[in-house]
Amino acid sequence: MVIAIDGPAGSGKSTTAKYVAEKLGFIHINTGAMYRGIALKCIQDDINMENSSQLNHLLAHTKFKFEKEGGSTLFMDGVDISAELASVQVTNFVSQVSAISEVREKLVQYQRDMADGLDVVLEGRDIGTVVFPNAEHKFFLVADIHERARRRKKEMEANGEVVSLEELTSEMEERDRKDTTRRHSPLKKAEDAVKIDTTGLSIEEQVNHIVEIVNKTIK
Ligand code: DC
Repeated sequence: MVIAIDGPAGSGKSTTAKYVAEKLGFIHINTGAMYRGIALKCIQDDINMENSSQLNHLLAHTKFKFEKEGGSTLFMDGVDISAELASVQVTNFVSQVSAISEVREKLVQYQRDMADGLDVVLEGRDIGTVVFPNAEHKFFLVADIHERARRRKKEMEANGEVVSLEELTSEMEERDRKDTTRRHSPLKKAEDAVKIDTTGLSIEEQVNHIVEIVNKTIK
């Protein structure tokens, strides 16, 4: 069974997807982490995104794996890169990387292969619309922009990074704009997705809401 959870940055996707997967005993695939992984590699290897042979070489030689221990940790080419993915540098570059059609094609195929035949919770921007348009369950999380910026600030502070709320809000607005207006697979709610506004909800409430809906179709 595939459960698709989409929504903008800070809407609560990652934490919700992680706990929904835990409660149901499903695998959790954070597709945003994969786009971030490619962005990280481009920065580290000084890849010119305009140079398609450099980019295609990078895409052909990148392997991803999610390990279940302690949640869902992304390994890229055998290395745990989770700590590096939330950096400001990666966050600011990832919208550019995820707008490139070659990157999307490669990662969408990867995501379909990884989920093949398994019970999975996939979270991202295009899971219910492009990656798994026939997913058994689709959820679209939204939240007020100020609340989303506050959540991201807390997350970044936990990583030792200090950014002002104003700066984060405008960066988030800019990322929303890029994610929703890009040509390939823009962020949008699938028509048949259940919309959940997480602004006033606790993680537990979000998780339970989704698990209840899913359980009705399992039992
Ligand atoms: O969820 P996140 O903030 O970690 O995602 C990072 C970026 O990757 C985000 O700006 C949009 C992009 N992304 C995407 O285009 N498609 C996905 N399925 C997941 C993420």
